Amino acid sequence: MSDIDVLLQETRSFPPPSDFRVTARVHDARLQDDASMDPVNFWAREASELTWSKPWDTVLEWTPPHAKWFQGGQLNASVNCVDRHIHGPRRNKAAIIWEGEPGDRRTFTYWDMYREVNLAANMLKKLGVVKGDRVAIYLPMIPEAIFAMLACARIGAVHTVVFGGFSPESLRDRINDCGCKVLITADGGYRRGQIVPLKRNADEALKDCPTIEHVLVVMRRRSGVGDETFAEMQEGRDHWWHRLKRQVPKHCEPEVMDAEDLLFILYTSGTTGKPKGIVHTTGGYMTGVASTTKYVFDLKEEDVYWCTADIGWITGHSYLVYGPLANGATQVVYEGAPDWPEKDRFWQICERYGVSIFYTAPTAIRAFMKWGTPYVEKHDLSQLRLLGSVGEPINPEAWMWYHKHIGQERCPIVDTWWQTETGAIMITPLPGVTATKPGSATTPFPGIKTALLDTAGNEIGVGGGLLAITHPWPSMLRTIWGDDARYVDTYFTKWPNRLDLYFPGDGAKRDDDGYLWILGRVDDVLNVAGHRIGTMEVESALVDHPAVAEAAVVGKAHEIKGQAIAAFVSLRAGFTPSGSLRDELREHVAMKIGALARPDDILFSADLPKTRSGKIMRRLLRDIAEGRALGDTTTLADPSVVAALKDQYEAQE
Ligand code: WTA
Repeated sequence: MSDIDVLLQETRSFPPPSDFRVTARVHDARLQDDASMDPVNFWAREASELTWSKPWDTVLEWTPPHAKWFQGGQLNASVNCVDRHIHGPRRNKAAIIWEGEPGDRRTFTYWDMYREVNLAANMLKKLGVVKGDRVAIYLPMIPEAIFAMLACARIGAVHTVVFGGFSPESLRDRINDCGCKVLITADGGYRRGQIVPLKRNADEALKDCPTIEHVLVVMRRRSGVGDETFAEMQEGRDHWWHRLKRQVPKHCEPEVMDAEDLLFILYTSGTTGKPKGIVHTTGGYMTGVASTTKYVFDLKEEDVYWCTADIGWITGHSYLVYGPLANGATQVVYEGAPDWPEKDRFWQICERYGVSIFYTAPTAIRAFMKWGTPYVEKHDLSQLRLLGSVGEPINPEAWMWYHKHIGQERCPIVDTWWQTETGAIMITPLPGVTATKPGSATTPFPGIKTALLDTAGNEIGVGGGLLAITHPWPSMLRTIWGDDARYVDTYFTKWPNRLDLYFPGDGAKRDDDGYLWILGRVDDVLNVAGHRIGTMEVESALVDHPAVAEAAVVGKAHEIKGQAIAAFVSLRAGFTPSGSLRDELREHVAMKIGALARPDDILFSADLPKTRSGKIMRRLLRDIAEGRALGDTTTLADPSVVAALKDQYEAQE
């Protein structure tokens, strides 16, 4: 049965448990009633919960497809995440309870955070960073990563965080695209007991990054012995974080930022070979993430919140840094893998710190399912009261397992749909109000307006269609760095003459109760283990190899990762298919982009199925990769190509 059929048959429904509902921050269904909640009024009310140094003049200026929120208002994101908590009862509250993969632990109160962020901000200033400059951050999941982001925000520098799993080339391209002046990295980070040599990767990248003037290096390794092997410091360019810290003043006055001043750029994959720099601004983004963190996770003062995402992704930005800290939360931050040293590491952490809110991705949940419940049952998870899911569609089976074995049938699950571009959660249950259904992200957050449309732009009431967002929202991307035309073209041209309709690239279905079921991407973007990867990016990496003449990449269903990467490759004259060449090509992609993009399958083929106009028919390649009967082949230039490929693929399996 296909995923869609499974979803169509899902009838289970879970109302909020009554003891949860009575104490929930939102238990009044009216908050979710679209008609009574005008987006502009709603978001203005939410924005007023932040600390502004100057109030805004206008809530929204909308010249489709460009929106400006809270114009005239001034604020600083680091003040909202740190300074505003140090004068009251949160001063000595734990902000970050951190655990490294090898088992080392550090805790920072809000006062500690204040000191660290001020020092880090002054370090950046000492290296010449001024308001508007771009700073690249390539760090493991250590507290300094959060200090670095907030330090940028404090002085008005624009951070661009690059996930530590990306290759030197990927790092280089991102640094060069937005012209970063400083790079913050570490000698290494831990992953499954191995050291990820970030500084070495960075040095490789920096061979070709003319705009970088300085590199700030955090010493992650615990012993300090043999650091030189992981971090060769280049005189004048490279500086140890812990040394520079001793040379700067302790206080840094926060920069006054306009609401629409840039907060950060985060690169994400699209349908072309080149990742795009998604631009987020200060006032609207902070409003979106602060509000959603509070209501979606029902965050209370005494909660221990844990979002397992890496800061290299938007989930880390919004729900590990800016959202929880703006709300003065106590949160757990963990550096490493869920199965190191044992497959119960996450549950051990939940038990040790009494985690009450837990937010992770379906791919992780499916891995836990496979590992089995004994790893879970060993631990006391009685403090958990709310679970969240993000990043990809969650299949009902994984949802039910999460509900039963992690939530112990007591915790509501919030399945949150959103994107790098939306900045904050868009479609989600409100845990004190919404009856959840396994596999459905349910309904839009208050202040968010969506529609299901067909390709002509007609509204679909019940059934499947393309998801659209019909009203601007504060945390929406403002543009693509350096390419506003691409911004307009990618997100606002799906429906002719409707520059006011944002197209996220997802298909969805609405059921009789008005619930939305996200079906996944309808474009050439893959979602592999919750990571967005463009098929074109992988294809470009493959054709970069001297043996490859042509490559076509598709996603195929995968039990744990959701989607896996299948590549069809035709070789240049003089090269012959072999197992070792297959391994070499897989490594080549990992080297070019990062291990997350390494193809699962590679099939050599003399030809790729093309239409008479020369377009590769990916749809047919997907049929082959997923072992389905072939769809319509009548438009192919040479139908025998695809039949031969299918036989070959099946033989290989
Ligand atoms: C997918 C991650 C179904 C979707 C926050 C979207 C989801 C893409 C969900 C964005 C969900 C995210 N249910 N699909 N709850 N959450 N997606 O930019 O296809 O890394 O377009 O942001 O992930 O991925 P991104």
